[in-house]
Amino acid sequence: MSEKSQLPSRLFLCLITISIALLITSSLFLLQFSDNSFRPTSVLKLILVNNTSDYFQPSVGSEKVEAPFTPSVASPIYSNPPVRIKEVPCPSSEPSNKLSAVGLEKEKICDTNHAVLQVYMYDLPLEFHFGLLGWKGNSDQTWPDVGNPSRIPSYPGGLNLQHSMEYWLTLDLLSSNVPNMVRPCSAIRVHNASQADIIFVPFFSSLSYNRHSKLHGKERVSVNRMLQNKLVEFLKGRNEWKRLGGKDHLIVAHHPNSMLVARKKLASAMFVLADFGRYLVAIANLQKDVIAPYKHLVKTIPSDKSTPFEGRPILVYFQGAIYRKDGGATRHELYYLLKDEKDVHFTFGSVQTNGINQAGQGMGSSKFCLNIAGDTPSSNRLFDAIASHCVPVIISDEIELPFEDVLDYSEFCIFIRASDAVKKGFLLNLLREINQDQWTKMWERLKQIALHFEYQYPSQPGDAVDMIWQAISRKKSSIRFKGHRNNRYRRSQNLVKIT
Ligand SMILES: *[C@@H]1O[C@H](CO)[C@@H](O)[C@H](O)[C@H]1NC(C)=O
Ligand SMILES: *[C@@H]1O[C@H](CO)[C@@H](O)[C@H](O)[C@H]1NC(C)=O
Ligand SMILES: *[C@@H]1O[C@H](CO)[C@@H](O)[C@H](O)[C@H]1NC(C)=O
Repeated sequence: MSEKSQLPSRLFLCLITISIALLITSSLFLLQFSDNSFRPTSVLKLILVNNTSDYFQPSVGSEKVEAPFTPSVASPIYSNPPVRIKEVPCPSSEPSNKLSAVGLEKEKICDTNHAVLQVYMYDLPLEFHFGLLGWKGNSDQTWPDVGNPSRIPSYPGGLNLQHSMEYWLTLDLLSSNVPNMVRPCSAIRVHNASQADIIFVPFFSSLSYNRHSKLHGKERVSVNRMLQNKLVEFLKGRNEWKRLGGKDHLIVAHHPNSMLVARKKLASAMFVLADFGRYLVAIANLQKDVIAPYKHLVKTIPSDKSTPFEGRPILVYFQGAIYRKDGGATRHELYYLLKDEKDVHFTFGSVQTNGINQAGQGMGSSKFCLNIAGDTPSSNRLFDAIASHCVPVIISDEIELPFEDVLDYSEFCIFIRASDAVKKGFLLNLLREINQDQWTKMWERLKQIALHFEYQYPSQPGDAVDMIWQAISRKKSSIRFKGHRNNRYRRSQNLVKIT
């Protein structure tokens, strides 16, 4: 062998040695940082806000759990690693499990040390929650037995379901006390209010509005109004409320007309809302409140059954009611601009009259789905579009979007100002310019994030219930902050009272 050929082979040997060394160090490194590194994270990246984040939860992998309450479980989540956002680094009570992660992980339990949010829930009388579903229970029973899914009263269907998060959140809290329940460890119900981060008010306010606003017979006051008055009286008399003036209380008021009577009196509480369209800023605002997605009405399209670009003949899809109020004008103007286009489906009529299935099919065969402000800035249409993987085109300047602090909607939605949308040619030119690659990117993203808008029981990591609890947990420090400020002059106030 000549010098020339020996040199490369020596070099080669050297390279191999170096790479082996690198390999060893990197695998040691990976082991150090436990199991997480081996897991696919694509879907989950978006909710990891911090490098203190940590995965957690028994691996559901093979033992798939049936979610009894989801007709539309397309749940890609079962096959994905569960995710946890932790505010606090793992408590020291946790065993050091860096090496045999998989085995130990199954033993991890969701207790008050692990949960992101400790929640105290008032044991309100039945009439405020499951009683509204017609559930009676036994005489001593306030809550249904959620360990047995077949005995959980179901929420009324149809359009009621859009605002059913009051029900899913309550169920999830109840299930947090059921042994061996496989669910995210975001919220856990505690029975001592002074240990809680949040005090949950289990009033099904949207259902109360939808079902009990009318006066019957000789009633002077509707059930909906009566319940709200009772609730205000109850809360204002509680020490838990007085402690922080209600700032740590969580009230679900998703239907824009729910809590109409009580909202001003309970304005210091944190609300779970659809948008701020019918609220004064002093009563509801982004700083203290949480926006929750509507429960979509169309069936979820499973990721692997979703139609790609070339299979969606309709460019733009819209179906909705005609409104004369506020935002409605944009709908009319757009209708006249778009109605003669061949690849545009634009019809007026509520989803009900044309059938939810038909709407689902329409959206599933469309590239873009319009969300035009109606009488409120938000509607379930956006979430129907997401579940159909139809790229939402949002024409609603005042809309508030759920979880926007961890989700960048511009990755999977198109936003157009109402004033631009009604310019001749603007909308269609913009959408036609989006090519297959660009559209497909948004579609892929839609398939990834769709699970964040699924309500189901039991809740699963990354679904809507889990995301709402996590959004609430991100308000924790601001509640604490307000509490501490409240305390500043406590001593001198007491003194003032005495002197
Ligand atoms: C991650 O944590 C390290 C120290 O723990 C810190 O220096 C770094 O800035 C953090 N990065 C992010 C993105 O939070
Ligand atoms: C992010 O990390 C910082 C410290 O690195 C921590 O104080 C903070 O609570 C974390 N936030 C979340 C949301 O985990
Ligand atoms: C609730 O917790 C507080 C503080 O941790 C404690 O002082 C109190 O005794 C507890 N109350 C009950 C009824 O356990």
